[in-house]
Amino acid sequence: MASLAVLISLVAFAMLASSAAGVRVDLTRLHSSRFVRDAVRRDMHRHRARRLAASSGDTVSAPVSKDTAMGEYLMTLAIGTPPLIYPAIADTGSDLIWTQCAPCTDQCFPQPTPLYNPASSTTFSTNNQTYNQTYGTGWTAGIYGSETFTFGSSPADQTSVPGITFGCSLASSNNFNGSSGLVGLGRGSESLVTQLVTGKFSYCLTPFQDTSSSSTLLLGPSASLNDAGVSSTPFVTNPTMEPMNTYYYLDLTGISLGTTDLSIPADAFSLKADGTGGLIIDSGSTITSLVDVAYQQVRAAVLSLVTLPTADGSAATGLDLCFVPPSSTSAPQDMPSMTLHFNGADMVIPGDSYMILESGLWCLAMQNNTDADPSILGNYQQQNMHILYDIGQETLSFAPANCGTF
Ligand SMILES: *[C@@H]1O[C@H](CO)[C@@H](O)[C@H](O)[C@H]1NC(C)=O
Ligand SMILES: *[C@@H]1O[C@H](CO)[C@@H](O)[C@H](O)[C@H]1NC(C)=O
Ligand SMILES: *[C@@H]1O[C@H](CO)[C@@H](O)[C@H](O)[C@H]1NC(C)=O
Ligand SMILES: *[C@@H]1O[C@H](CO)[C@@H](O)[C@H](O)[C@H]1NC(C)=O
Repeated sequence: MASLAVLISLVAFAMLASSAAGVRVDLTRLHSSRFVRDAVRRDMHRHRARRLAASSGDTVSAPVSKDTAMGEYLMTLAIGTPPLIYPAIADTGSDLIWTQCAPCTDQCFPQPTPLYNPASSTTFSTNNQTYNQTYGTGWTAGIYGSETFTFGSSPADQTSVPGITFGCSLASSNNFNGSSGLVGLGRGSESLVTQLVTGKFSYCLTPFQDTSSSSTLLLGPSASLNDAGVSSTPFVTNPTMEPMNTYYYLDLTGISLGTTDLSIPADAFSLKADGTGGLIIDSGSTITSLVDVAYQQVRAAVLSLVTLPTADGSAATGLDLCFVPPSSTSAPQDMPSMTLHFNGADMVIPGDSYMILESGLWCLAMQNNTDADPSILGNYQQQNMHILYDIGQETLSFAPANCGTF
């Protein structure tokens, strides 16, 4: 586990709302010393999967990597009656909720908790309809079932939600290590968010350098944003088929660095009629990737502000623009905020959320992609922000926050 790039695991899990489906999950992030390089590699797998999906219309969705556990966030939940507790990857880039089911005789990956056995649960039902959910570099297949899911770790806290449709997986590829399944938080009908009726969730991610405090995920009624300085922007719907309409597209109209508006074409981030392009916000990608015409402007603007010598950091970090800092332990230079101008809302990203100290280098924590890929707002750029996804209102809201004391 220590070798995983970035792993957020559940340490505590407590119910906030007494009504069904109000859930607070505390999350902890673990580091390896080379987390950026690993994250970049993993992000590349996600991007490739999206490109393939966009071109073929296949049911391919987000986030698997061959090299590391596929996800970055683990949440804990329980399935069945009596409830069996298990950790699952929380993924905004896909919809299906699934866990491995006993008997798993064919192709099962080793999981950290005992297998869920539908035969020993009094609340399981199925119509035997099969699925095969394909991810970037992995897949899971089985039959759809309906079950009671329970949220909350101690008996006093527990709230159960009956009748949730999920995947009872009987065979899977082996790249879901560290989890016993996955919880889809995308926009589609099978996702947990959609099935919880309230249709919203929020999270607050602690800074990557902060290894002592917990990130937070709020599901259902307890997900709300009353913080000062809240901004909201509408989601954009991708008109094409699954899986692209699972993703949370946003309308990004421009970027500035400090007070300088970068000269990026107005349609750089717009979704094309064939469903390619656009920009999505994603919990499972670490590094933001921008369409090259925008990336080159950001790169040039950062380069013009930094007085340090550049270094080729691609092998060590996977990142394209790196500098040699005088000391490897502190940010060498104050950088102005970067502002992402969304439709109706400006998102201000402080220097520490777009520059990263990594492998002794100080790098721009962004990269370019090809024109057909969506641009992606990754989770490194989302740190210390409370972000609410409201499917009912079709909006993303956000406010700066101190996520360590959230
Ligand atoms: C995941 O498990 C498989 C099968 O046990 C193993 O081959 C692989 O190395 C593991 N991957 C990681 C990242 O732990
Ligand atoms: C599903 O398959 C199982 C095992 O073959 C069978 O016992 C059960 O009756 C089937 N259920 C439905 C609703 O078809
Ligand atoms: C599911 O789909 C993947 C990718 O197409 C394939 O490799 C795998 O064999 C399929 N699994 C099952 C059980 O059909
Ligand atoms: C990405 O940026 C690098 C460095 O600026 C450049 O060499 C490369 O051609 C760009 N890739 C694409 C696909 O535009």
